[in-house]
Amino acid sequence: MSTDSAMSSLISPDTSVSPHPTLKLGVMASGSGSNFEAIAQAIADRQLNAQIQVLIYNNPGAKVAARADRWSVPSVLLDHRNFSSREALDEAIVSTLQQRGVEWVIMAGWMRIVTPVLIAAFRDRILNIHPSLLPSFKGNRAVEQALKAGVKIAGCTVHRVVTEVDSGEIIMQAAVPVLPDDTPERLQNRIHAQEHCIYPRAIALAASQVSID
Ligand code: GAR
Repeated sequence: MSTDSAMSSLISPDTSVSPHPTLKLGVMASGSGSNFEAIAQAIADRQLNAQIQVLIYNNPGAKVAARADRWSVPSVLLDHRNFSSREALDEAIVSTLQQRGVEWVIMAGWMRIVTPVLIAAFRDRILNIHPSLLPSFKGNRAVEQALKAGVKIAGCTVHRVVTEVDSGEIIMQAAVPVLPDDTPERLQNRIHAQEHCIYPRAIALAASQVSID
């Protein structure tokens, strides 16, 4: 076990997860897509009983699109710059997700605020990952916020998405120590490692708590 993983701890163990049918996921991402990759890998390793129906991304150059290609996951670019409002973008997102038979929406580094248009279409079935121990450090630059505040423990949170940003029910968290010589990049890297560990488990846990009619 590496020093980092030894020092990081899972706060919300998933002991209550029960078997569930294959989950049909739609992943939304804006950037690198390392969480997309971790979820795809967990599915391939049979740690998560799910299938990624589609990746939606909003930045033409996002690395996540190449990752989707490598995993043979269809991807759809919905560039927010081509929509007149957040609601118009979310209508296109809902339509894309519904056409692909998506049941669970997984925001994995999706850097846009979502509206009631999306939230109402997938009520209780939208998850987000955020690089802080919510409810601390909501919004942008959460890792920098944590360093600036001088906290000794940082971390990440998977939560249900509600209209208020970074505020829905917490599903799972992992804690990461802040080291004396930490830079935002170093701390972010250690948080990322924990995100990859908890997101697939949190998806299974959330799905075991909500049934699809
Ligand atoms: C992750 O650290 C995730 O927590 C964060 O973006 C990163 C995406 O990384 N999300 C937010 O800050 C949302 N407010 P990835 O593209 O490598 O998965």
